[in-house]
Amino acid sequence: MAELETTQTPAVEEKKNDKDTPIIFLDDIHVTFKTRTGSLLHPNLVHAVQGLTLKLMPGETIGIVGESGCGKSTTANVMCGLQQPTSGQVFFKGEDVTNRTAAQRRLIGRVISVVFQDPATALNARMTVHDQLMDPMLVHNVGEPASREKRVRDLIEVVGLPSSVLDALPGQMSGGQRQRVAIARALSLHPDAIIADEPTSALDVSVRAQILNLLMDLKRELGLSMVFISHDIQTVRYISDRIVVMNGGKAVEEGTAEQVFNNPKDAYTRLLLGAAPSLLHPDLGKTKGHEEELREEVLLKNEEVAE
Ligand SMILES: Nc1ncnc2c1ncn2[C@@H]1O[C@H](COP(=O)(O)OP(=O)(O)O)[C@@H](O)[C@H]1O
Ligand SMILES: [Mg+2]
Repeated sequence: MAELETTQTPAVEEKKNDKDTPIIFLDDIHVTFKTRTGSLLHPNLVHAVQGLTLKLMPGETIGIVGESGCGKSTTANVMCGLQQPTSGQVFFKGEDVTNRTAAQRRLIGRVISVVFQDPATALNARMTVHDQLMDPMLVHNVGEPASREKRVRDLIEVVGLPSSVLDALPGQMSGGQRQRVAIARALSLHPDAIIADEPTSALDVSVRAQILNLLMDLKRELGLSMVFISHDIQTVRYISDRIVVMNGGKAVEEGTAEQVFNNPKDAYTRLLLGAAPSLLHPDLGKTKGHEEELREEVLLKNEEVAE
């Protein structure tokens, strides 16, 4: 992997990273959506998130896992400032940004990047890869032409793609390559944290492990904080320092990967553990040595990428 410059472009409003201050602190967050359906007797409300409290510390990776509809994406959107909570407070590096100003929103957009499930929606179909990687720097007025060009080339190398793809359009690439470009774009402004919402779920099984490995390498080498969201508990296992299990808009269990896997306290977590075949290897049973097998699989895929 190429070296990536770690120098932060100075920003007037930007606060210094303090290792004891959470990058994001969600304090008792509720998000209620009004839907168009519903009747007089049954008010048309969806309680997507119900009293969630969560801290993302510098350098830490949190895995959020739960079934479809449990509120994972809504939580992600609150974290990156795309969704205003119905109640509760959002702190960004210690600062209350619940009712954020335009300037705060811009700053959060710079230091917290999102990688979505479907790279096709994150990328502009009519822009070349080069221009997509350039775009955030132009929007946020970072660097000057020469340093921006260098950054674009560094970024494409860091995500393991040849520089020839810079001239390509998203439609000319595979899903895995597109997700690599989306990750490169997410890194372009030297974020403190990446929120990856089901980043491997839309991809072919064969490339999921590669993208997972890439994210693991990046968080380690760049010291990034990460929120890794998946409906598959096996997928979050290796990347997460801490796992939060969500059910019905609530966190029902929280602990290290080891605690959650070896000693799940909540019945729902046990259900997820029992029900979930690995997305990385759907045929893999829950036999002894499963963990080693999975790890081997991940390493194998990694070697394929390196070749
Ligand atoms: N903009 C919205 N308007 C109405 N309901 C929504 C909206 N976004 C999400 N929901 C509902 O909120 C619940 C949680 O959704 P979401 O956070 O997307 O779950 P997940 O990402 O875990 O699948 C679901 O019932 C979903 O239908
Ligand atoms: Mg979702």
